[in-house]
Amino acid sequence: MSEAYVEGSLKDFMDTNHVIPRVVYECILTTKADGETNAAPMGVIFEEDGILLRPFKSTKSYRLLKRAPYGVVNFTDDVEVFYITTFGAESDFNELLTPSVSVPAPSLANAYAKLEFFVESLVDEDDNRAVFRCKVLKALWKLREAKPYTRAEHAVIESLIHATRLKFFLESGMIQEAIQLAHLIKHYDALVSRVAPNTVYSSIMVKLKALISSWGLSGPLLGLFEFQKE
Ligand SMILES: Cc1cc2nc3c(=O)[nH]c(=O)nc-3n(C[C@H](O)[C@H](O)[C@H](O)COP(=O)(O)O)c2cc1C
Repeated sequence: MSEAYVEGSLKDFMDTNHVIPRVVYECILTTKADGETNAAPMGVIFEEDGILLRPFKSTKSYRLLKRAPYGVVNFTDDVEVFYITTFGAESDFNELLTPSVSVPAPSLANAYAKLEFFVESLVDEDDNRAVFRCKVLKALWKLREAKPYTRAEHAVIESLIHATRLKFFLESGMIQEAIQLAHLIKHYDALVSRVAPNTVYSSIMVKLKALISSWGLSGPLLGLFEFQKE
């Protein structure tokens, strides 16, 4: 991958990188307020002249954006970065960060694209979720080499996102919903074992399963997560 970032407007970024408005893309959102830093996977939706972020109100990302309304939308396809920023310790993700150019929040050092933004308005909110409309101050992206498609990458990302909700459902006593997600994770785990055995993808699935097993599962969930170690 070329080391230098190309710099331009949001429109330049969208045109060059074939971004489609209204599609949810997955980024790593980096934020900072009063010396407190965060990095977390987050969906981002592009509009013609801005971006929308939809954090759950229970997230640290939401709390930091409310306190200091700026951040960076970082794009990476490194599944380990997704894992670390979802379930890793703060010290692990801090090592991945670097200062940004135009906002006082850090960005992800190995991102292939970054959108530095400020929050323009809170456009919608309910009990669970807020929707922030953000203006991009600076878009930076690298010219990328070809990267063949593997189903494993998507299976791992889907498993991570389902695991974040599974944890929430368990904590909220929503067992049927938790079981549904557990079945999906089990399905993706089997897929990763088939298409990417003994790789970075399968080792993340091993870590994820161990983590889920530590969440005090009971009843049918216990059976679902009696995965054997690889
Ligand atoms: C691929 C992916 C996409 C996610 N998208 C969102 C999202 O759009 N909004 C949200 O609140 N959480 C989302 N999550 C879950 C958060 O990243 C997760 O709950 C995280 O722990 C919240 O981080 P925070 O409390 O450190 O901000 C996503 C997780 C993954 C793996």
